[in-house]
Amino acid sequence: MELKITPLHPHIGARAEGVDLRQALTPDLARQIEAAMDRHAVLVFPGQDLNDDQQMAFGTAFGPIEGSRATVDVHRHRLAHPLMNDISNLDENGEILGPEDRRRMFNLGNRLWHTDSSFKATPSKYSMLHARLIPPEGGETEFADMRAAWDTLTPKLQETVRDMVCEHSLLFSRALLGFSGFNEEERRQFAPVRQRLVRRHAGSGRRSLFLSAHIGRIEGWPVPEAMALLRDLTEHATQREFVYQHRWSLHDLVVWDNRCTMHRGRPYDDKQYRRDMRRVTLSDTAPTLEQAV
Ligand code: OGA
Ligand code: MN
Repeated sequence: MELKITPLHPHIGARAEGVDLRQALTPDLARQIEAAMDRHAVLVFPGQDLNDDQQMAFGTAFGPIEGSRATVDVHRHRLAHPLMNDISNLDENGEILGPEDRRRMFNLGNRLWHTDSSFKATPSKYSMLHARLIPPEGGETEFADMRAAWDTLTPKLQETVRDMVCEHSLLFSRALLGFSGFNEEERRQFAPVRQRLVRRHAGSGRRSLFLSAHIGRIEGWPVPEAMALLRDLTEHATQREFVYQHRWSLHDLVVWDNRCTMHRGRPYDDKQYRRDMRRVTLSDTAPTLEQAV
C-alpha cells in the first residue's frame, strides 16, 4: 500500500488514497500521514468503511484521545464508546431529534466557524469525522486555513493581535445563537479558559490565528471592542479564497488539524433526513499559553 496525496485546494485540504484504515498503521505510514497533515491541514480519506473500534484505533496512532465529551445531556449518549463524539441529528434510540430538543439547539452551534475544544484548557490536535449516513443534499463541512489568515494580515494588525489572550467557552458560542439553556452544572463545566490568539504550528513552524466562535473576550479589552475585532478577523480568515468545502460521500473519513484551521457545518434538512457522523478527537500536548510561539 502506498499513500497517495492529491491537493484539493490551493491553500488547504488534500485527498489521501491507497490505504486501508481498517488495518493497523505502521509507524512509517503514520509518519507520512502526519507529514501530509502538517502540509495540508485537512485530509479526506474516501471509501473507508470503518466501524467504531476501527475509527478509535486509527485515532490512537496520532496521540491521546480527549478524555471527555463536551455537550448537553451528556449522559444520553447514542454510541458505544463513551469518548466518541456523536455529530448526528439522532437521539439515543436512533430517532431524529425533535425540532425543539435542546440537543438539536445546542448542535446548531456547529454552523458557526469554530475549532473543536478550544474551550478546553488543553485544546484538541486533530478531529477525525466519519460519515456513516448522509442526507441527499446539504450538510457540507467547510474548512478555513488559519495559517494563510495570519500570513495575509497587515503587519499593523499582526502587531496588534500577536500577544493577545482570549477566553473561550461553549457558553459564548451558544450565546451567539441565543441559546442560553445551560444548567448550573453545565455552566460550571463550561467555564471560560484562556488561549493565545496567535500560535506557532508545531508541525510546520508557521504562525496561525487561533480563532473560534467559542471566544467571548479578549483580555484587557472592552467586550464590544473585542467582539468587533474578532468579527473582522473571522471575516478575513474565512474569505472564500482560504476555504475548502467538503461535500460528503458515504464512508469518507475527514481529518483536520484544529491547531491551524476553523470549520463549520452547513445546513441540511435535519428534520427529514438522518445524518450520522462520528468524531474521534485527539488532544494537543498543552494549553496554548504553555506552548512556544
Ligand atoms: C464537528 C463539526 C460539522 C459538520 O464534527 O466538529 O463541527 O459538518 N462538524 O458536521
Ligand atoms: Mn466542530
